[in-house]
Amino acid sequence: MKPPRKLHIKSYGCQMNVYDAQRMVDALAADGFVETAAVEDADLVILNTCHIREKASEKVYSELGRLRLAREEAARNGRDMRIAVAGCVAQAEGDEIIRRAPVVDVVVGPQSYHHLPELLARAARDGKAIETEFPAQDKFGFLPPPESDAIRARGISAFVTVQEGCDKFCTFCVVPYTRGAEVSRPVERIVEDVKRLADHGVRELTLIGQNVNAYHGEGPDGRVWPLGRLLHRLADIPGIARLRYSTSHPRDVDDSLIEAHRDLPALMPFVHLPVQSGSNRILTAMNRKHTVRDYLDIIERFRRARQGIAFSSDFIVGFPGESEQDFSATLALVTQIGYAAAYSFKYSPRPGTPAAEMQEMVSASDMDQRLARLQELIDSQQSAFNRAAIGTTVDVLFERPGRNSGQIVGRTAYLQPAHVMAPTDIIGKVLPVRIDRLERYSLLGQLAPAPHPRGAKIASSQTTIGA
Ligand code: 5AD
Ligand code: SF4
Repeated sequence: MKPPRKLHIKSYGCQMNVYDAQRMVDALAADGFVETAAVEDADLVILNTCHIREKASEKVYSELGRLRLAREEAARNGRDMRIAVAGCVAQAEGDEIIRRAPVVDVVVGPQSYHHLPELLARAARDGKAIETEFPAQDKFGFLPPPESDAIRARGISAFVTVQEGCDKFCTFCVVPYTRGAEVSRPVERIVEDVKRLADHGVRELTLIGQNVNAYHGEGPDGRVWPLGRLLHRLADIPGIARLRYSTSHPRDVDDSLIEAHRDLPALMPFVHLPVQSGSNRILTAMNRKHTVRDYLDIIERFRRARQGIAFSSDFIVGFPGESEQDFSATLALVTQIGYAAAYSFKYSPRPGTPAAEMQEMVSASDMDQRLARLQELIDSQQSAFNRAAIGTTVDVLFERPGRNSGQIVGRTAYLQPAHVMAPTDIIGKVLPVRIDRLERYSLLGQLAPAPHPRGAKIASSQTTIGA
């Protein structure tokens, strides 16, 4: 038998890429590859790239420069190191990558990971292999089922892709070009994956997709199921204690999703719902297809459906044409909603997107200053949200031992890390914890002696935020 070849994957960007990296490991395991954490030992290095924000491709080229040296060193030791570029930069730049970085053997777009063994064979034969098409077939069906060891390594909390691609075409965003049109996996396939994950000890699932609530998969009854219905089905699978989903678009929030939050205790009351801007003028220029009022109404519907529900969001500052008044409207929206957390980014033009052609760039100093003001507001909301947990009892799903001996770390419904001193057999359980104090972003507490009605306390303590 041939000795296993070693594979090193470096992933950038979103959860989808983390998940895809695992799928590439699974696809290549069938071809005799095992993972290594050390680049220098690898027979194959894959850069799993992200194109969504600034200077992504420049970072890839500088990483490829470093890999060229690693490859030369391997060659001096009589070893052949292959290099592949995957992910969204691969999708967007294709041949350009091989032209600029001859060290690359394989360029593979996110729709083609199941072809990796074949592409490597082609590169060995012809020198190079590129595949960045969007094949008509459903790529989900062609990936091998996750190996049980790989599943075990994923621990208590796992991601499951249910949807890919985006049809929204926000004017700043590359995703519709790099990830293609919206595709949803059939319900039964997802159910099979989730059962298998649950059998291996997974207690929490995050359903992922670029526009996850645009999910419209084929159900076992032959009808199209929306995300809310899928969530109902998955909540019935024994062992699954918590469900989450990410990332949602406000336009695709439908009644089924709101009802799922009303009816399913396992569906966590924490929704990532990017709004990007609080100015209608900018939302229109971004082609977001909703107004500030629409967004506020959606938030209100969630709040009426589920007590204690909290939100996070993404924001872009300095979109072309954003005035000081537009930016103030963003601050006002953040103040009105009161987020538990949020991410904010400076606008950066992505080649090929409509916004990249827009004039009226906001100056770098205005962008910096707006980003700092927004982040200060968001930080203060996040701190207030975290402080509100002190003195309450909250449910925590325990995931792993902490850094200090005897400490176990888990997460609250709102993804706040929570630490207690306890035996390791609490890993995998959801238990009530009395929160004593806050250390940076982590909650520290003690296991509460008696169980309490699920979520009751946390719900009442956290609704005060931002009200
Ligand atoms: N410039 C800055 N931020 C961007 N995002 C997406 N495209 C851009 C861009 N061109 C941000 C959005 C999105 C998040 C994943 O990345 O806020 O929700
Ligand atoms: Fe990009 Fe907009 Fe689609 Fe989100 S909804 S992936 S920002 S195009």
